[in-house]
Amino acid sequence: MKKSSMPDKRNPHAMLLTDQAALVTSVLDDILRTQTHSQRLSQAMHYGVMSGGKRIRPVLLLETARLLGVDPDMALIPACALEALHCYSLIHDDLPAMDDDDMRRGQPTVHKAFDEASAVLAGDGLLTLAFDILSDNNWALNAEISVKIINILARASGRSGMIAGQMLDLDAEGRFEAIQKPKALSEQHIRTLQDLKTGRLFVAAIDMACVLGRAAPDLRKNLLSYGVSLGRAFQLADDLIDATSNKDEAGKATGKDAQAGKATLVSLYGIEQAQFRLDALIDEATRMLHPFKSQADWHIWLVQSMAGRRS
Ligand code: IPE
Ligand code: IPE
Ligand code: MG
Ligand code: MG
Ligand code: MG
Repeated sequence: MKKSSMPDKRNPHAMLLTDQAALVTSVLDDILRTQTHSQRLSQAMHYGVMSGGKRIRPVLLLETARLLGVDPDMALIPACALEALHCYSLIHDDLPAMDDDDMRRGQPTVHKAFDEASAVLAGDGLLTLAFDILSDNNWALNAEISVKIINILARASGRSGMIAGQMLDLDAEGRFEAIQKPKALSEQHIRTLQDLKTGRLFVAAIDMACVLGRAAPDLRKNLLSYGVSLGRAFQLADDLIDATSNKDEAGKATGKDAQAGKATLVSLYGIEQAQFRLDALIDEATRMLHPFKSQADWHIWLVQSMAGRRS
């Protein structure tokens, strides 16, 4: 079976992820070092992005663009915008009002390193920064492509995407009911919740690359299906990490999903069944890449690495 573990630095695909992640990090670092009117805001935003992070979504965008023959420079700003938005989602996800987490990427969460109000504003700043850099004239793309990319990211992250998933995730805990107890969600409901809160940003990475590369409809369809399965596999691996890993390895608190009554496939089916389902998702995603033959080797490695993901 496929067990290429993400941290294996000798693996060329893992090395590519590391190198491309470093590129995204350095561009974001440059952007975030420019001053705002508040040093505290600049520092909190910088901390929330620069505190580590695997950069999977932006590198997925870059590598999908490469697969479609796009000049890598053209994909860099959309990749950075997506990562800025993802980092915002983590800062808010960790807030006491949401998942109430003290550790992220092995370090204190933004509201712990700073304070809650600064974390809220740093998140807001990163969300809006994503659309700022995408709509900036310095990034020379034609208007039609820019608008399409902006729309993909807005739809994927907003009320029809990630934010809706986050609300369903909290609602499933039963926290908005008079008598608070976790709701028993069906597999279908959990899928929908996870497709929204996590999957939509993975699919957006791919769709933005498809716009840049003017992908043919049949290839786009396969790539988007790969993205859906990859997002599912990614969240299932995240839920397994929560159930089976520890704080040092994961870089964030574990055992919290069961404690909070989160609706996950692990809570529904148990660890062993969830692992079978993860394998099935990996196979599903891999099948979608057949038309690309060896050109999609990195994408295949990425989804297969979900089986061995520990952080
Ligand atoms: C964590 O995402 C949030 C989920 C959707 C589970 P990542 O595991 O990609 O977080 P970083 O960016 O690498 O820290
Ligand atoms: C977060 O899901 C999804 C987001 C949109 C940020 P989780 O709440 O499971 O992510 P972790 O476990 O805190 O990283
Ligand atoms: Mg959450
Ligand atoms: Mg969380
Ligand atoms: Mg989690």
